[in-house]
Amino acid sequence: MTIEQQRTETVRIDQERLWASLTELGEVGAYFDAETELMGVRRLALSDEDIAGRHLVVPWFEKAGLEVSFDRIGNVRARRPGLDNTLAPVVIGSHIDSVATAGRFDGCLGVLGGLEVIRTLNDHQVETLRPIELAIWTEEEGCRFGTDMLGSAVAAGRISEVDARALTDAQGISVGSELDRHGLVGDRPVPVAPPAHYVECHIEQGPILEAGGYEIGVVTGVQAILWHRLTIRGRAAHAGTTPDALRHSAVLAASLVTVKLDEMVKSGDYGALLANVGRFDTSPNLVNIVASEAIITVDFRNPDEEAIQRASADLLAYCWEVEERCGVTISSEITAHTPPVEFYDEVMDEVEQVANRFGLSNRRIMSGAGHDAGEMAAICPTGMVFVPGRYDGISHNPREYSTPKACADGINVLLQCAVTFANQE
Ligand code: GLV
Ligand code: MN
Ligand code: MN
Repeated sequence: MTIEQQRTETVRIDQERLWASLTELGEVGAYFDAETELMGVRRLALSDEDIAGRHLVVPWFEKAGLEVSFDRIGNVRARRPGLDNTLAPVVIGSHIDSVATAGRFDGCLGVLGGLEVIRTLNDHQVETLRPIELAIWTEEEGCRFGTDMLGSAVAAGRISEVDARALTDAQGISVGSELDRHGLVGDRPVPVAPPAHYVECHIEQGPILEAGGYEIGVVTGVQAILWHRLTIRGRAAHAGTTPDALRHSAVLAASLVTVKLDEMVKSGDYGALLANVGRFDTSPNLVNIVASEAIITVDFRNPDEEAIQRASADLLAYCWEVEERCGVTISSEITAHTPPVEFYDEVMDEVEQVANRFGLSNRRIMSGAGHDAGEMAAICPTGMVFVPGRYDGISHNPREYSTPKACADGINVLLQCAVTFANQE
């Protein structure tokens, strides 16, 4: 351990200040959630609420002395200079866009925890060899424009700026027009120059750490994600007069596909496959008309790339059967696909060692959810720190909750990792 490391070893973040930041950002885009009777968060990417969140947080970055810049896809990068600013930075961060039924932690912990790291380093006058940069990635969730990890994927060069700008939401509004409307297109070019390291702290969003009583998850990687959007076209017809044999119901077809997915998951033929139909839009959506159109989305997850691809192919083969049986046409578009990602041993080892030194119980864990870190892993040594959530780790739900201590534990580990890597030559 270097002298600088020994000195920062005793530095701890301010748990109350982190919690206050999380609480304040949680007010932006807050709505009353009828299902849970709780206040939830709705800050869909590039919506007015998302921008209001940025308008709250970016001045905090500036107040902490960070030099804020934007890249061409609206990712925020805020820099704390190092002793040698010719060296590539260590990047920490996450996202503040949310799903429509979010809690206060998903993504926000990584961003506001990153800010807490910067504030703490400032408080203790800790200097690092390399700059440390704090990132807010655009449209991590993917639920508005259909492709997840969009901003970090453009930064990493997996998706082009042109293709990203052309994506549209359900109302036909494009990423590009929203970036322009909000003045978010910055001068930093994409793809970005590779950072020295990328480390992200995030809530687990699942039940494993809580069930085992673990305080920290050392994240080994991210499972594969594959999303389809299926557009099913049938024929509108009178529900009272059209004989069954003459119907072409898009809703029946969409329902058969939905049930088939559940059977595929339960069959065990695809390993640890998960499948979700999250969007189920029908048209004209009226009681006495056989539905002429349905648009559904399918979200597959699997740690095994071969199995997720096989599930995807088998789904399409089943769609042909459904076309035949229901007299409909089904067109399919793959809107997102990321193979499994493995994080770097050096980052996992560092997270584990810090957790052990701090007496925090920990285990290695693969991420079920997608993360910007998965994109960064393509361009630099990357890893993640997970903290446990309550209530089976429920997430994408206003009940999402991690305790102030759990959040602080994760960010204390993040701080040590960031300093270690930022002092590497
Ligand atoms: C991001 O939250 C995901 O869908 O995994
Ligand atoms: Mn997230
Ligand atoms: Mn999420």
